[in-house]
Amino acid sequence: EKGGFESFMDKEIHDQPQAVADTLRGRTDADGRIVLDDLRIDEAVLRSVDKIIVIACGTAAYAGHVAKYAIEHWCRIPVEVELAHEFRYRDPIVDAQTLVVAISQSGETMDTLMAVRHAREQGAKVLAVVNTNGSTIPRESDAVLYTHAGPEIAVASTKAFLAQITAAYVLGLYLAQLRGNKFPDEIATTLDELRDMARKVQTVIERGEYVRATARSMKDADKVLFLGRHVGYPVAMEGALKLKELAYIHAEGFAAGELKHGPIALIDDGQPVFVVVPSPRGRDQLHSKVVSNIQEIRARGARTLVIAEDGDDDVRPYADEIFWIPKAPTLLQPLLAVVPLQIFAMALATAKGLDVDQPRNLAKSVTVE
Ligand code: M6R
Repeated sequence: EKGGFESFMDKEIHDQPQAVADTLRGRTDADGRIVLDDLRIDEAVLRSVDKIIVIACGTAAYAGHVAKYAIEHWCRIPVEVELAHEFRYRDPIVDAQTLVVAISQSGETMDTLMAVRHAREQGAKVLAVVNTNGSTIPRESDAVLYTHAGPEIAVASTKAFLAQITAAYVLGLYLAQLRGNKFPDEIATTLDELRDMARKVQTVIERGEYVRATARSMKDADKVLFLGRHVGYPVAMEGALKLKELAYIHAEGFAAGELKHGPIALIDDGQPVFVVVPSPRGRDQLHSKVVSNIQEIRARGARTLVIAEDGDDDVRPYADEIFWIPKAPTLLQPLLAVVPLQIFAMALATAKGLDVDQPRNLAKSVTVE
C-alpha cells in the first residue's frame, strides 16, 4: 500500500501534485467559469455573505490562515480564522449573513464538528471543506466542497493541506465570480496558475534529497524556529507543527515582523531558523523586509535555512542553506514552500529512528473534544 515508499507519509508527500490536480479537476465549465455542483447553498445567499469565519484545527487551520489572504484579496469579504475549540466556547458573532467554512481532512474532528453545530444553531450557513466522503462534518453542514487528496493515512497531514488550500482558493475565486469582484479573464488566469502548481510541486519534491541530507545532519537539534510573513507565516507555523509532531523537537513559527518584538531574543549561536522568503517579484516590500530579517538573525549567530524562489540572489549572502522553489505568484507560494518543511521533518524524525506514520500520543482523527 505504501507503493514502494518508506512510509505512508513519504508516499503522501509524493501524492501532492496529484492531490492539487484532482482538487481542481471538473470545477470549471467549457467557458472557464467555476461551477461548484456539489455546493448546495443558494447563490443569492452566497452573494449576501458579509463575513466568513474559517473554523478548523491543526494543519487544517493553517490552510485556513493561508486562504484568508487570498479570499480577502479576491472577494473583499472579511475573513476570520479561528481554532474550532476556541470558537465554540466563546460567544462568536455569527448570523445569517455569515458563511462559516469548516476545514477538515477526516470530517470527524469533534472540536470542528461541535463548532459547526454551534454556528448552525446561530443561523450561519456552514460550508465544509473535507477530504473524507460521507464523513460526519459534511453531513451536518449546509454544503460541502470536497478536497480530492485521496485517503491520508499518516498522522501528520501533508497532501490534505495542499488540497485544502487549493479547494479554499477555488471557493474564493467562485465567490469573486459570483459577486462580480473580478473579471472572468482574471479568474481564468488565476485558475491556470493554480493548475500549473501541480507541476511545480513535483519539482520541489524532486529536489528533496538536499533537504533530507540537511535534516540528517541536524538530528541533534533541540529547538528550531520558523519565520514567515504574509502567506509564509502560516507556512512557518505548519513547518513547526510538522517538526513537533514527528521529531518531538520544540519548534515555533513566527511572523517575521514580530522578531524585534520579542522572538529575536531566542537567537544565539548556531540556532537553526527556517525562513520562508516571499517572491521578489511582489509589488510590496515584503521580500526586502524578510531578507533584512535573515541578515539580522544571521548577525546574531543563527544558522539560516532559507526557502527562496529560483533566481533570488538577494538571499545568498545570508543563507547557510537554501532550498529553492519554482517561481509562483505570492498567494500560491505556500503550496511550494511547505514541501521542503514536510520533507525536513520527516527526514529528521527518520534519522532519529522514530515512526513517522504513527508519532507518539497522536491519533489520525481526534474524535473527542
Ligand atoms: O481531520 P482534521 O483535518 O479535522 O484534523 C485536524 C488536525 O487534528 C490535524 O490537522 C492535525 O493537526 C495533524 N496531525 C497535523 O499534521
